[in-house]
Amino acid sequence: MAGVANQNILLGVTGGIAAYKSVELARLLLKAGARVRVVMTEAATRFVSPLTFQAVTGHPVRSSLFDEEHEAAMGHIELARWADQMVIAPASADFMARMALGLANDLLSTLCLASASSIAIAPAMNQRMWQHPAVQRNLSRLEERGVRVLGPASGEQACGDTGPGRMLEPTAIVAALETASSEGLFAGEKVLITAGPTHEAIDPVRFIGNRSSGKMGYALARAFQHEGADVLLVSGPVSLPVPPGVNCINVQTALQMHEAVFENIDTVAIFVGCAAVADYRPENPQHQKIKKLSDRMDISLVRNPDILAEVATLEEGPYTLGFAAETQNLAENAQAKLLAKQVDMLAANSVGGDVGFDSDENALLVLWSEGEKHLPVQNKQQLAESLLRILADQYGRDE
Ligand code: PMT
Repeated sequence: MAGVANQNILLGVTGGIAAYKSVELARLLLKAGARVRVVMTEAATRFVSPLTFQAVTGHPVRSSLFDEEHEAAMGHIELARWADQMVIAPASADFMARMALGLANDLLSTLCLASASSIAIAPAMNQRMWQHPAVQRNLSRLEERGVRVLGPASGEQACGDTGPGRMLEPTAIVAALETASSEGLFAGEKVLITAGPTHEAIDPVRFIGNRSSGKMGYALARAFQHEGADVLLVSGPVSLPVPPGVNCINVQTALQMHEAVFENIDTVAIFVGCAAVADYRPENPQHQKIKKLSDRMDISLVRNPDILAEVATLEEGPYTLGFAAETQNLAENAQAKLLAKQVDMLAANSVGGDVGFDSDENALLVLWSEGEKHLPVQNKQQLAESLLRILADQYGRDE
């Protein structure tokens, strides 16, 4: 499917002076071949009349969750299912806060929870509001959840201030939505990403695990998805929502992860090993809970297969990006792993301190045969996006 043509786009409009620009946005989306339905918050209707959107789209605008006519047939769920993409423009500070909290106190916020489609927001607000830590925290939460943030632009504002907070122009929003579906850095490429820890059973209630939260791997899944890739995530046990539009196979153990990867590896162009896979598993996991009968207990461990190394040495295998988690001598150990595992690219991180495992931030030393690049400490989502730019530059050069 090229661009937004033939897509069902649900345009959410929230209360802000930029709402008037969304009429033009609706018109441009229709012109690009999309089917458009508009949902407005109550505040948005104070800025632009629903009739204006109705006249442009040819469909009644919805703004109430308690619309007897539509809700007789659970209209909001149908609308949520109908949407291929949701774009909320303008997205006010209030609406971003409600979204970040997962509130469902009006029709539009309810649709954000009820729809499995991808969601993009085009924030618009006063520049001081935009820079307020509360707004920035909500923004990070939404990005972590896979919401795509378009803009804001910087410049003169309706209130007279100058700075970041202007809604992107409708043409730029349409261009961004077109890029997401057809022209991203990895448009059309199938990518398999492992993420999270593995849990290796000792008995039915105990396991050997590690501190991986899955945040880095899930951030990569979102970044690839935004760049147009078809993403399959093979995830160990984590408590993160699967990013919208990403397929996910949940596993517990290294052996299950190995199986899920090799059932799908023939279909992918890129493999990313971000999971913290246990190197060893208990040789004889007990079927009943182990009783504390003696002062000592020895658990015999056996090696797990090295998923990344096996993928990297496949004859017609995918491009492989591995990770290395190190507590010392990052550069030397990473270089050794790049060679030993024969991966195309390796992203090494220092773990054991404040960043890396189970943190929102990380830093990476990225190595490949002819080069290296250091990505300094930053939010894992931004880091994933920077890593993808390096990968896009190298990917395909050796073929
Ligand atoms: O999940 P987060 O809390 O966000 O933390 C992110 C992270 C620190 C887990 C991540 O950035 C990371 O470093 N992942 C790799 C962790 C790891 O297992 O590193 P390693 O150096 O032990 O393994 C090297 C590579 O071999 C990794 O790509 C790993 O996925 C792979 N491997 C390891 C063992 C094994 N049996 N099979 C594998 O595929």
